[in-house]
Amino acid sequence: MENNRSSYRMSAFLVTVFAHLLAISIATLGLYWLIKLKEGVAFTSHVKIQIFNMHPLLTVLGFIIFSGEAIIIYKGIPATRQTLKLIHLMLHLIALLTGTLGIYAVFKFHNELKAGHAYTLHSWIGLATICLFGLQLLLGIVTFLFPGAKSATRARFTPWHIFTGVGIFFMAIVTAETGLMEEFMFQKLHKGQEALVVNFIGILILMFGISVGLLVVIPLKRN
Ligand code: HEM
Ligand code: HEM
Repeated sequence: MENNRSSYRMSAFLVTVFAHLLAISIATLGLYWLIKLKEGVAFTSHVKIQIFNMHPLLTVLGFIIFSGEAIIIYKGIPATRQTLKLIHLMLHLIALLTGTLGIYAVFKFHNELKAGHAYTLHSWIGLATICLFGLQLLLGIVTFLFPGAKSATRARFTPWHIFTGVGIFFMAIVTAETGLMEEFMFQKLHKGQEALVVNFIGILILMFGISVGLLVVIPLKRN
């Protein structure tokens, strides 16, 4: 957002560092949870829960960490707009690929247990998020890269791209939070270390979401 929002003139650098630290903490605590406190992760295993565990790992890595990093890249590094656009695109492609593998894992897990699909609010918001993410990526490529729209059209499209992008990113945050809550339902978590770790992962994800949102409203430096 390029206007003179002088009230937001704060150090994008500091907020970016804070967001990176949150991303590292989510990944570290998430791995500790899945590997040390839970059964570990695998795509094929007779311990079926290991297949499920790939789901939170890859969806959070993709739709939250890589996508969040792709968004904050605009405020994070001093590079030309063309370079920033390419890094933004690459990180979102990796995000979609990683996240989709995470969805594949939970579908595989449900198939192997002969359980149904898409019966929770979490799965509905999750499926909507992936579809919109794919659409956003496609529209972004067509408008900004190949074949690329005329500059007037691009200028009209940009605020909508930012609005829908932030909306989809927040949908991913809501999906991850509802997914973490389901641990208390399906894994029958009660008080104890694992419940504490799951709640902290949820709080860190929320804080990461808020930091990414703040970085989007801090004005972009043009070069
Ligand atoms: C942005 C991240 C996420 C997305 C897009 C997502 C999406 C989905 C989808 C589409 C399903 C339905 C699969 C099916 O019907 O077979 C599902 C299931 C599930 N997810 Fe996630 N998920 C995400 C993160 C998480 C996290 C962090 C957890 C925490 C452990 C989690 C826990 C679950 C559970 C327990 C199920 C099985 C029950 C159900 O279908 O709701 N998810 N997820
Ligand atoms: C699901 C994928 C995507 C999401 C969620 C997304 C989201 C966002 C967000 C939130 C911003 C605002 C960043 C800021 O101002 O700090 C942004 C900016 C931008 N995005 Fe994307 N984006 C996606 C895909 C793409 C793709 C594929 C392209 C094409 C290469 C693209 C090109 C751009 C450009 C050029 C800007 C800068 C707009 C400006 O302020 O002039 N995006 N994107």
